[in-house]
Amino acid sequence: MIHFILNEKEISTALPPGMLLLDFIRYHQHLMGTKIGCREGDCGACTVLVGELKNNELHYSSMTCCLMPLGNAHHKHIITVEGINMEGLNPIQLAMSDEGATQCGFCTPGFVVSLAGFCLSRKEATIENAIAAVDGNICRCTGYKSIERAAGKIVQLLKNKNGEEPAEFVAGKKILPSWLASIKEKLQNISTKTDGISQDGNKTAGFLGGGTDLYVQKHDELKYAPIRFLFNRPELNGITRQGNKCVIGAAATVTDLQESPIMQEYFPRLQQYMKHVSSTPIRNMATIAGNFINASPIGDFTIFFLALNANLVFRDGKTKRELPLRKLYKGYKQLDKRADEYLERISFELPGENSKFNFEKVSKRTWLDIATVNTAFAITMNGDKISDAGISAGGVAPIPMYLHKTSGFIQGKKLTEELINEAVDMAQTEISPISDARGSEEYKRFLLGQLIKAHFIELFPGIKFEKILFE
Ligand SMILES: Cc1cc2nc3c(=O)[nH]c(=O)nc-3n(C[C@H](O)[C@H](O)[C@H](O)COP(=O)(O)OP(=O)(O)OC[C@H]3O[C@@H](n4cnc5c(N)ncnc54)[C@H](O)[C@@H]3O)c2cc1C
Ligand code: FES
Ligand code: FES
Repeated sequence: MIHFILNEKEISTALPPGMLLLDFIRYHQHLMGTKIGCREGDCGACTVLVGELKNNELHYSSMTCCLMPLGNAHHKHIITVEGINMEGLNPIQLAMSDEGATQCGFCTPGFVVSLAGFCLSRKEATIENAIAAVDGNICRCTGYKSIERAAGKIVQLLKNKNGEEPAEFVAGKKILPSWLASIKEKLQNISTKTDGISQDGNKTAGFLGGGTDLYVQKHDELKYAPIRFLFNRPELNGITRQGNKCVIGAAATVTDLQESPIMQEYFPRLQQYMKHVSSTPIRNMATIAGNFINASPIGDFTIFFLALNANLVFRDGKTKRELPLRKLYKGYKQLDKRADEYLERISFELPGENSKFNFEKVSKRTWLDIATVNTAFAITMNGDKISDAGISAGGVAPIPMYLHKTSGFIQGKKLTEELINEAVDMAQTEISPISDARGSEEYKRFLLGQLIKAHFIELFPGIKFEKILFE
């Protein structure tokens, strides 16, 4: 059985856990406000809020339920646009209507739900944060300025929020329905219902994290497929520091990484990198393990952690196996991993005092796009010499690549402009990009060269830019 709360109502269902939450909401609960646009996580028309208890605090995240299986809703609170209706229009709906932020209206439920999520979040009430909350919602009619004005009005409603529990604040101020104040208790009660989905019953079942990759490819097939759900398993979650290592549970999401104080401390430009990875609802669902195991040659986190020489721990229920990420990829979508092994955790050495890190990504669109070419660079200096270096690159081969030759070539050498140009030439000898919809072979080669230079320019501002860029 799957137990969760849908708006105010407790749900216990024996429907297939692989069924999409979107289909359950629309066709089994007849809540048609949650729209179907792309069914691929791109448009945000199907956005719902997913509430859960973390350290006894209620947290809400926006998610696209066109990629979310019912199994991942277990023990959660799901809010649809109908759930936040009040007597007349609620203040969020009113702001959208007053500012002319809706025309055909197809996208509007998604925007309203995302903005309700902003009201329920612990984020500071700023216009930047309100606009960031709708970064996964696409509107084909309004041109966005009216939506931004509506977001500004909503920020004003949250002015006196301070440290109050968000659900209690918005219920008390009549921004959202009053029943939200009692959800925490309901979630505590529902978590005692332990006849949930079986986690390990079927050893031949496939693994599922957030579903943002698998459900794009085969949502019909997955409805009745045996699935081992990993997303909510506590032992696979969390990001901790152990000595000089950072340990990441394989089901940690991109948002978990983005919000981790450890990651923020060691990667000061983390937020800048993250803004170019999908959208808020996808980042709330996408796991780091899913990024590694889907083996996309352009997976942003695969490239990020290849440079950092991350280590992986796999389990099959009985035994444990460790493997460096750099040894995982054997060929296009071919991994050094047995079908019955799941990724349990990822660890890497935190950058030391003399170490620096950078990540670069170029896509056809600046926002909401996968990379044409992406690359990460970790470097440790000993005076003016490079004592250690790791360069990775995506979009330039059938697998996400660790550039062994180039990384080895610069190690032990003095950092000069000439060395950077030689490294760019060396990188060209170990990549094999193909021409496709994202760019020609020549363009991808040129791009990687420029991005390697960009790493050095970003990390060593003293270098003569002109000499590097134009030689
Ligand atoms: C709209 C949209 C935008 C996107 N933008 C980006 C982007 O900018 N950059 C980017 O890199 N990716 C992007 N993606 C791709 C995707 O979101 C990521 O690759 C994500 O990290 C996949 O994680 P998941 O948990 O959702 O994977 P899932 O779909 O759950 O699983 C993917 C694969 O990993 C396996 N798997 C998952 N967890 C484990 C585990 N612990 N052990 C063993 N196997 C496991 C599954 O069996 C499956 O084969 C985007 C996707 C969408 C839909
Ligand atoms: S229908 Fe477009 S994101 Fe779900
Ligand atoms: S109002 Fe028509 S798509 Fe947004």
